[in-house]
Amino acid sequence: MSAPILVTGGTGTLGRLVTPLLREAGHPVRVLSRRGGPSAPGIEHVTADLVSGEGIEAAVRGAEVVLHLAGGPKGDDRAARNLVRAAQQTGVRHLVHISVIGADRVPLAWLRSKLDAERAVAESGLPWTALRAAQFHDLVLTVVEKLAKLPVVPAPGGLRFQPVDARDVAARLVELTLGAPAGLVPDLTGPAVYGMDELVRSYLRAVGRRRPLVPVRLPGKAGRAYRAGDNLTLDGAETGTRTWEAFLAERLPEPRRTAHRQPVGPR
Ligand SMILES: NC(=O)c1ccc[n+]([C@@H]2O[C@H](COP(=O)([O-])OP(=O)(O)OC[C@H]3O[C@@H](n4cnc5c(N)ncnc54)[C@H](OP(=O)(O)O)[C@@H]3O)[C@@H](O)[C@H]2O)c1
Repeated sequence: MSAPILVTGGTGTLGRLVTPLLREAGHPVRVLSRRGGPSAPGIEHVTADLVSGEGIEAAVRGAEVVLHLAGGPKGDDRAARNLVRAAQQTGVRHLVHISVIGADRVPLAWLRSKLDAERAVAESGLPWTALRAAQFHDLVLTVVEKLAKLPVVPAPGGLRFQPVDARDVAARLVELTLGAPAGLVPDLTGPAVYGMDELVRSYLRAVGRRRPLVPVRLPGKAGRAYRAGDNLTLDGAETGTRTWEAFLAERLPEPRRTAHRQPVGPR
């Protein structure tokens, strides 16, 4: 049996899509997360905490290729440094890493930590590949669902996204993981650019709800960077195939959409 491909964060939104593709390509997979998961044929789960460092070396040992997807709101820089150290000690021959478009341009702490994580990988001395992706449809849906619960929805002026389907990102990452180390590859975005107001409106339409939108202004340097489109890649990106509209139609099936369209009686 060949050496397993280690997928950190293989239980997350993206990781759950990546592991079956690696299995279909005939590779044994080892999934690293803090909480673990149920093992299946060809899929082994190991637990380690990339931020504290606990359990990493044992989890990495024996893997020649590592696909680093684990991430959280804090500590991704530290997690990457810890993973790199273990990978250097255990002889990993290809480290593949997902990052976020705008990590090098938007001045927010979590993006700064993504940039530092990128640097840890690029400066590791290990053969590496990194892909910066746009926001996944799933994340945009979570945000829009929360906003749409408010009686009046704040819509930051000038804020745009190029949401990409996590399945498109997973397919690209598998291709990169099974290929030769390539350094920083072209960014991956969704097929279209949307204003935040358009994303909210399309969601409201899909669930048959009405809400007034009120324009707000994002403050500070980060607000300026977003208005300037520093979170977008308008030239030279690869684009996923699945649109936001198609994702919404899949994710909000007809019964739910019709349920929201029921007339509301007097209170
Ligand atoms: N979501 C987006 O729109 C987007 C866009 C571009 C790039 N990305 C990047 O893509 C990656 C995956 O995103 P996702 O949306 O799939 O994330 P997710 O659903 O939140 O999954 C995160 C995964 O990482 C694991 N994890 C978190 N902290 C860990 C730690 N300290 N040690 C070990 N495992 C840890 C989690 O499992 P446990 O909780 O069990 O540890 C889980 O498997 C992240 O690096 C993210 O920054 C995301």
